[in-house]
Amino acid sequence: MGNKMDRRKLVMLLGGLAGTGAAATLVARADQVAQPAPTSSLQKLPWPYKPIDPDAAAQRAFEGYYKSECMYGAFEAIVGPVAEQLGSPYKDFPFLMFKYGGGGVKGWATLCGALNGAAAAIQLLSPDPDPLVNALFEWYEHEPLPDVHPKGAKFVEIRSVAGSPLCHQSIANWTKVSHKHAYCPERSERCGALTASVARQVVILLNSQSAGKPVAFALPKQTQSCQSCHEKGGAVENIRTKMDCGGCHAPLMGKHPGIS
Ligand code: HEC
Ligand code: HEC
Repeated sequence: MGNKMDRRKLVMLLGGLAGTGAAATLVARADQVAQPAPTSSLQKLPWPYKPIDPDAAAQRAFEGYYKSECMYGAFEAIVGPVAEQLGSPYKDFPFLMFKYGGGGVKGWATLCGALNGAAAAIQLLSPDPDPLVNALFEWYEHEPLPDVHPKGAKFVEIRSVAGSPLCHQSIANWTKVSHKHAYCPERSERCGALTASVARQVVILLNSQSAGKPVAFALPKQTQSCQSCHEKGGAVENIRTKMDCGGCHAPLMGKHPGIS
């Protein structure tokens, strides 16, 4: 910003010197002052982050969702304002690449696109991304969402609990609660509002971390108990996941070896 002021002063001063050789030299120097950061600064992670407004990010995510789907919506709403503050080369990042994550990656309904975009943004902006991603995914699994009503939304949002970070379960559970079809405009708007909820939550987490406050995260007790045999170091050690086991193995919960 200081550079911009200096440059403006120089340009005004140069008005009087126009046409002289001295002016040409000064113009060249002024251009150097206003040079953007080198392209290599893009590769230095994390990018510099200053707190942004969670509610503004939510609204931007909702609008981004309608432009280029859920993953783009979440990523661009969080990283876009940061890139705008930082200028070039940050703002030249190819945000549209994240269209690939729409519908849990091109309709395969694997990882929810909003979470995928959010995790990418966290990795880019946080000096310690893992606790934030863990806290975000655990929240997404268990929270009735969407928990925001963006400006321009046409329907009353019907909240549901996804049960896992997967697009497939998230949408299936929503159709169960809403009694609506998976390809109706209400479902589309719901995923837009969900993208807004996720972007908002990420900004709250990033702001909290950048203020030096620890982010709380704990897996459900039952999942921890399943993991004690099935995860790393357990007697069986035949899986690796932090997902809530009950989201898919509900019939096993409470009826399984070692579970009282
Ligand atoms: C005390 C140890 C222990 C705990 C705790 C435990 N399991 Fe298992 N689980 C086993 C063993 C042993 C087997 C059989 C493994 C084999 O035969 O390869 C098994 C098998 C399974 C299987 C495959 C067989 C089937 O019944 O479908 C699933 C799925 C499973 N466990 C899920 C879970 C879940 C979910 C939880 C938490 C609710 C859990 N387990 C908790 C020990 C445990
Ligand atoms: C998103 C759904 C989902 C979640 C969440 C999930 N699982 Fe599974 N799990 C599956 C599917 C699908 C299979 C495939 C095999 C099958 O059941 O036929 C499987 C298989 C297993 C098996 C059996 C492997 C074998 O040898 O047959 C175990 C054990 C298991 N899961 C444990 C867990 C535990 C423990 C958790 C939680 C930490 C968990 N799963 C979370 C979907 C899930």
